[in-house]
Amino acid sequence: MASTLGTYAAPLVNDAARDLADSIIIAVNTTFTVASRVYSSIPGSRIFAKYVKASYQNDPYRTLLEICLVIFMIWYFGGKKHKPGDDELQLTEKEIQELIDEWEPEPLVPPLTEAQRTELDKIPVISGSSGSKLKLVDGRERINLASFNFLGALNNESTKDKAIEALRKYGVGSCGPCGFYGTIDVHIELEQEIAKFIGADAAIVYSQGFSTIASVIPAFAKRGDIIVADAGVSFAVQKGLQISRSTVKYFKHNDMEDLEKVLEGIQRDQIEKKKPLTRRFIVAEGLYANHGDICPLPKLLELKNKYKYRLILEESFSLGVLGTRGAGVCDHFGVSGKEVDIIAATFSNALSSSGGFCCGSKEIVEHQRLGGQAYVFSASLPAMLAVAAVEGIKYAESHPEALARLRENAVVMRSTLLKNVQQVQCGGVEDSPVVHLRLRDHRFRNREDEEQALQEVVDEALRNGVLITRAKYVNDQELFLPPPSIRIAVTAGHSRKEVEKAAAIIATAVKKVLKGRK
Ligand SMILES: *[C@@H]1O[C@H](CO)[C@@H](O)[C@H](O)[C@H]1NC(C)=O
Repeated sequence: MASTLGTYAAPLVNDAARDLADSIIIAVNTTFTVASRVYSSIPGSRIFAKYVKASYQNDPYRTLLEICLVIFMIWYFGGKKHKPGDDELQLTEKEIQELIDEWEPEPLVPPLTEAQRTELDKIPVISGSSGSKLKLVDGRERINLASFNFLGALNNESTKDKAIEALRKYGVGSCGPCGFYGTIDVHIELEQEIAKFIGADAAIVYSQGFSTIASVIPAFAKRGDIIVADAGVSFAVQKGLQISRSTVKYFKHNDMEDLEKVLEGIQRDQIEKKKPLTRRFIVAEGLYANHGDICPLPKLLELKNKYKYRLILEESFSLGVLGTRGAGVCDHFGVSGKEVDIIAATFSNALSSSGGFCCGSKEIVEHQRLGGQAYVFSASLPAMLAVAAVEGIKYAESHPEALARLRENAVVMRSTLLKNVQQVQCGGVEDSPVVHLRLRDHRFRNREDEEQALQEVVDEALRNGVLITRAKYVNDQELFLPPPSIRIAVTAGHSRKEVEKAAAIIATAVKKVLKGRK
């Protein structure tokens, strides 16, 4: 029965279905024709169609991905927008006030640790002038082995007179950068004097020591350039390297074999990867502030010439200290100052003034007058300090006996220390006035514990009339943090007797502290 009905009913249904299908096809066709006509009237549509076709043939998966992206875009932008406040908690005024009262802002800096607090409290305050001896606010005079007054020229009466004369003539400040009426005749004189002293073509004077090298390096080395630096460079140099945004590679402190390995590696890399040629620099220090040793300049020059690098030397601790004339590390090795491309240093150590300078060829100096940030944007060095720096140079030149005494005192300091106490090690070369005193043969719990022990030595020496200080670093910012030490600065201003006495006092302090810690 059902089948009979089916056979009868079937044609009827089929007819209706066919009619429907036909009308659908017509409708689709017309819609498609209209749509394609509309579509082709849109400007650029043909290019789009061609693109889709071509991209489908080249990479069907990409077309699929693109379609997905388009769908996502439509969903994202077409979707319901979430308005702020849609599903927020309704709080009463009182609750809001309570929340505000409870809120505690994150502190700007973390609270001080106990060690930091003690360190702050221990900053000694001097009363009156500094020198090879000085008085602290407690009124007691002490032997000063903490200032970098290497030649003992600080407080030289004739320098003071000259500075006072300059003060009367030029006033105190300059109130303007060098390029904006801040350049005074005494600055030009100082630039000529320092260039002559170092043996360079020209020099430029900066008003602050730290920012000199930190500005000199980025004035020449830019992003993409290569710098190969000694791992023992001081903080100001590290900052210069960082600001330059160059690619910096470090070699082991004073290790020329390692330097050559690094230079070779860079050369190989450049040839293999066909890298573009960039400016390349080697950065080192004359006498390392953090180690008390001297850079092997002849080998540095040999390597920089072999691999075609420029050499930048920081000489803050070698100027007025090394060489027969005190002219620095070039003088020490009997090399012309012109061999080193760029030399920078501060006037505030041996030359006992303030500010800094950079020496080099005429172009190197002129470039900094236009583009050296610390030069262009800070007020020029006060005239009296420029005059004092010239006097400092003259003092170094005319007092070879001060240089000789400085070296002798350095030797005496080291030998007396080592003679009096076994548990120490004196970092640095024998006649370097920077002595890094370290404790050995003692187990410390950690770095902080070791620093604490050294501080106890400093305090004990202070009680017995000798002013020394720990070498201090911004621990978490140093790239290669040197081991803890006491940094003793020997000067020519001390007599041999004073040096021996001070060394004996320090040695006794070390023994006492270590004994108390057993
Ligand atoms: C001070 O410096 C002048 C000039 O360099 C020099 O003649 C004099 O001997 C120095 N005085 C002392 C005490 O060193």
